[in-house]
Amino acid sequence: MGYQNISFPKGSLFLVTGGAGFIGSNLCEAILKLGYRVRCLDDLSTGKQANVDLFIDDPNYEFVKGDIKDLETCMKACEGVDYVLNQAAWGSVPRSIEMPLFYCANNIMGTLNMLEAARQKGVKKFVYASSSSVYGDEPVLPKKEGREGNLLSPYAVSKRADEEWAKQYTRHYGLDTYGLRYFNVFGRRQDPNGAYAAVIPKFIKLLLNGERPTINGDGKQSRDFTYIENVIEANLKACLAGKEAAGQAYNVAFGGREYLNDIYKGLTEALGVDIEPVYGPDRAGDIKHSNADISKARELLGYDPDWSFDRGIKAAIEWYRNNL
Ligand SMILES: NC(=O)c1ccc[n+]([C@@H]2O[C@H](COP(=O)([O-])OP(=O)(O)OC[C@H]3O[C@@H](n4cnc5c(N)ncnc54)[C@H](O)[C@@H]3O)[C@@H](O)[C@H]2O)c1
Repeated sequence: MGYQNISFPKGSLFLVTGGAGFIGSNLCEAILKLGYRVRCLDDLSTGKQANVDLFIDDPNYEFVKGDIKDLETCMKACEGVDYVLNQAAWGSVPRSIEMPLFYCANNIMGTLNMLEAARQKGVKKFVYASSSSVYGDEPVLPKKEGREGNLLSPYAVSKRADEEWAKQYTRHYGLDTYGLRYFNVFGRRQDPNGAYAAVIPKFIKLLLNGERPTINGDGKQSRDFTYIENVIEANLKACLAGKEAAGQAYNVAFGGREYLNDIYKGLTEALGVDIEPVYGPDRAGDIKHSNADISKARELLGYDPDWSFDRGIKAAIEWYRNNL
């Protein structure tokens, strides 16, 4: 369970793209704690300088400000790298519907540049962030790899395209790629601000400020909310996976199912506030329910998540209380 006892060859170098963001900065932190070297490549488009400043004094940490849309930047960043953890992308389903061209350039071409650079520089493993959005309108629960529906947004298309490109790089060029389909990740350093913020940090911040959060739809939608520690474990274990597991994508979740109204109620209780939410319209491109079958990652990556939603949300609330 967990990743505390994972080990890599001494002096291993990890490249984390999107390392100034929520998930990427947590990956950087975990790798540094395990005693390995990290290079963070980020253009700070949605990431934060503060997530770089946290580690900048560590001699095992290096920050490169750059854009994965530029192949030359990717090539330089992959120099001497053992493992790539490609997290750089723009998230948010609604924003992708407003900006389809940008999502294609950033999320598809960016990852394709990274695959090409990793291949040319002889990187050992290429692990990348995909998303549960690739299941589209597939109604059957739990979501299982190989049973995907029609895609519902340009963001979902971008993640699905990344998976297809990664498969080509495994098939034709022998690059070991592993796609991780994250399901609604939450935890420390997730940005609570802005129109496209994820629901958990946004609600916590508003409630702490005594404001009324808006729930899109009736609040009866459910998600497999996944604590950040489980995502770190999946990334590190994928770096150690065998060739037979390459060229594929894996669900990364806890395997639970939480309803938005219940989460809201739980947050108000934990924060000791009595604030009613506002109910707004459904959001375009959203699905009603999502939860994951994680047996494939368990079997082929040895993924064994030990952070339940309840355990994770307590830790997240504690962090936001101290850091907002
Ligand atoms: N948070 C979730 O619940 C979730 C769910 C599914 C998938 N994902 C995926 O996980 C990854 C990380 O997401 P996150 O929640 O940490 O988002 P985030 O916005 O906090 O982090 C993304 C980082 O990538 C950087 N970036 C974006 N485009 C870039 C580019 N062209 N060049 C260099 N850097 C660039 C941003 O500046 C940011 O620091 C993304 O690929 C996202 O699509 C996240």
